[in-house]
Amino acid sequence: MKVRKAVFPVAGLGTRFLPATKVQPKEMLPIVDKPAIQYAVEEALAAGIEDIIMVTGRGKNAIEDHFDRSVELEHVLAAQGKEDLLSDMRRIAELVTFCYIRQKVPLGLGHAVLVAKDVVGEEPFAVVLPDDLIDAPVPATAQLLAVFHRYHASVLAVCPVSRESVSSYGIIAGEPVENGVYRVTGLVEKPSPEEAPSNLGIVGRYILTPQVFEELEQTPSDAKGEIQLTNGLKGLLGRQAVYAYELNGRRHDTGNKLGFLKATVDLALKHPDVGKAFREYLRGLDLDEEGSNTDGPDG
Ligand code: G1P
Repeated sequence: MKVRKAVFPVAGLGTRFLPATKVQPKEMLPIVDKPAIQYAVEEALAAGIEDIIMVTGRGKNAIEDHFDRSVELEHVLAAQGKEDLLSDMRRIAELVTFCYIRQKVPLGLGHAVLVAKDVVGEEPFAVVLPDDLIDAPVPATAQLLAVFHRYHASVLAVCPVSRESVSSYGIIAGEPVENGVYRVTGLVEKPSPEEAPSNLGIVGRYILTPQVFEELEQTPSDAKGEIQLTNGLKGLLGRQAVYAYELNGRRHDTGNKLGFLKATVDLALKHPDVGKAFREYLRGLDLDEEGSNTDGPDG
């Protein structure tokens, strides 16, 4: 069955990036020259997704405007003969349908996915957490879809994480079934290193069967009062097979400052306009002396 819809939970407040995110959604912070969320939208588009369901909250209107046509701006670009920029701007708005639903109270990732239940309906769907930017030769969602079509079951993206960082992820227990693919036998949300059943952490890409909604409806809130998607998936394990797939690509967690900076550097180095000059700039830095590069002519 074709996977047509993707749920993007984007209601989070982005407090880690204050004051930059006081009036601007964190998803709109630019990585080189594109808002962070656009990388994830383009990835979904490249995987054949047709409908993007954004689960938003207060103060997220800029996302909606960004993916809409802007007639004024299009006029200006057309008058200036900037056809490339113009067709780039139109492309996304034309190829995907966007739908926005409010998660009225921040009750966790599982709750955010559940908010999309009626819009998704009775079909398998993708979940894309745009904080996870995955730079990969084959778009991450497309990689997961290939596994979904082989096993006809839910698939979670995973990657190996260090022992110290298991408590930042949903961690799976699994039995390998083919190279990079595991049949999931257990799931724990943010375990301590002692409790972690493996070093395979869930990264923010999932292909899920619609039965997950029934599970989420029955998933109790955790100690923080949140409904975790991982716990809903644990319920799903009791009724159908769930697989995990080790993504091929580099994952950046743009939801924290260091991850955001690493993504910026990586993508800037690859950027056709600035990559070469940026590489030269980095080469010239004296990285051993802290603060020594702050007073040059470019700041
Ligand atoms: C969420 C999920 C977690 C997953 C992570 C991936 O956590 O709950 O299972 O490993 O995304 O980024 P969050 O980062 O929103 O706390």
